[in-house]
Amino acid sequence: MQNTMRSYSSKIEEIRRKEYGYLNNVTYLDHAGCTLYPTSLMHRYAQDLTSNLFGNPHSASPSSMLSSERVETVRSRVLKFFNASPEHFDLVFVANATAGIKVVMDGFRDLEGGYWYGYHRDSHTSLVGVREHAKASQCFQSDDEVDNWISTPSTPEDDAITKLVAYPAQSNMNGRRSPLKWCGQIRKKKSNAYTLLDAAAFLTTGCLDLSNHEDAPDFICMSFYKIFGFPDLGGLIVRKSSADVLTKRKYFGGGTVQMVITIGPAWHSKRKEVHESLEDGTLPFHNIVALGHAMDVYAELYGSPKQVSAHASGLAKAAYDRLSNLRYSNGAPVCEIYKDDRSSYKDATTQGPTVAFNICRSDGSWVGKSKVEEAAIRNNIHIRSGGVCNPGGVSTVLQLNSLEMKKNFDAGMVCGDKHDLMAGRPTGIVRISFGAMSSMDDVEKFISFVEQTYVYWSMMENNGSMPMLRAEGQLQPTPAGFASRVSLGEKVKKGGFKSILRNITGRSHITA
Ligand SMILES: Cc1ncc(COP(=O)(O)O)c(C=O)c1O
Repeated sequence: MQNTMRSYSSKIEEIRRKEYGYLNNVTYLDHAGCTLYPTSLMHRYAQDLTSNLFGNPHSASPSSMLSSERVETVRSRVLKFFNASPEHFDLVFVANATAGIKVVMDGFRDLEGGYWYGYHRDSHTSLVGVREHAKASQCFQSDDEVDNWISTPSTPEDDAITKLVAYPAQSNMNGRRSPLKWCGQIRKKKSNAYTLLDAAAFLTTGCLDLSNHEDAPDFICMSFYKIFGFPDLGGLIVRKSSADVLTKRKYFGGGTVQMVITIGPAWHSKRKEVHESLEDGTLPFHNIVALGHAMDVYAELYGSPKQVSAHASGLAKAAYDRLSNLRYSNGAPVCEIYKDDRSSYKDATTQGPTVAFNICRSDGSWVGKSKVEEAAIRNNIHIRSGGVCNPGGVSTVLQLNSLEMKKNFDAGMVCGDKHDLMAGRPTGIVRISFGAMSSMDDVEKFISFVEQTYVYWSMMENNGSMPMLRAEGQLQPTPAGFASRVSLGEKVKKGGFKSILRNITGRSHITA
């Protein structure tokens, strides 16, 4: 195992050359948004589709049967990928993680008596929206609140209400990983309570092991494009013993029914298998065929999620360490990093390979998030900035209360716009995230971009103060060779500095 781990990381440049040639000098750091598809996956998929006839599943024709057979094979393989026994779990194919969440919400919405909904503050908007159909809801503002809720004995009235508790396995904002133990605890300690784990961000590099079905979440949603880069497809894993609450939903459509009477008294009978009763309309069967190839190529290139996790975590730790240590010559930090106090980049059970931060100037004023993203784009670096669909996580780290958020909205700010700073404070974050095919070169390029774009120019503007960076409390010349080319204390004029940078970095164009 250790050997495979070493060999994949050591072969990363070769893998990138062969499989991700389309990167073409781009530094891609948005794996939490979508990871990258390998070229050989696309070739295999095209080859399969151009040499086989796939028809709409569930007919008797060979083309239809081929699709049905592939769909069921891939379904079993996905369950196996997560060590989920088919005796205890079923997989429902959906469009994406959000669609999986909506399948769960539809079931709960149709319950007689409705449901109570509890969700963690780190939730993506896709989870937050589930509260809109709940009779009552609560946002858990901290892990302690969840722990307290779990350990507080329920009243008989509480027990009578159906409850759904949802949280992300990994925050899509700062990569913080939540305790997976909550699902088992809630099952043991609360009556009539179900858990929905949003594994969308987590699975980009995380390992989900469902071999212990007793402690597993009731429902787990995911987007396969985040794990394999392709296809654009989602899944909802349902614990069979909890499936009733979903299969009782009122709606049916496509093949989810055994029989429907439309002329005469309305009557229908639903299909019995969990996935059969929840997969509305024609399955995205071409995408499911692609998923089979995606799993093959992933295994060949990377071995298993364990190796991917170790590789990506190492890169994120390096990026976090470097960004945390960046200082201006006056000692002021360059980045404010939004790491949760309970997480550590050394421990993949608490932290995924994402770093969320904002950049400050040497005088402590903020650089707008969208300005950082624009500067990154000009330097061929792809990152994400904004509220990243995580209102609770972002408002917590930016210390924006609901009144301030509403005030910002009233003053014209909406999610995704360029109102970077309101009343002098950031409204969103900058995010970099790593994946299976990221490399140390990506880390180096990003750090060098931050240094060159923000740190060096600040020194220039600082009346020719020494072009030095302080790392880990020590003044260090950077990048390599800087000290030998620029004598300490030399007053560097802007034009001259640019040309020095060009000499050092080999870049003809560094733009802020
Ligand atoms: C934690 C989390 N949940 C849900 C989603 C929504 O995923 P999708 O847009 O694929 O439905 C995302 C997407 O980034 C995510 O990171």
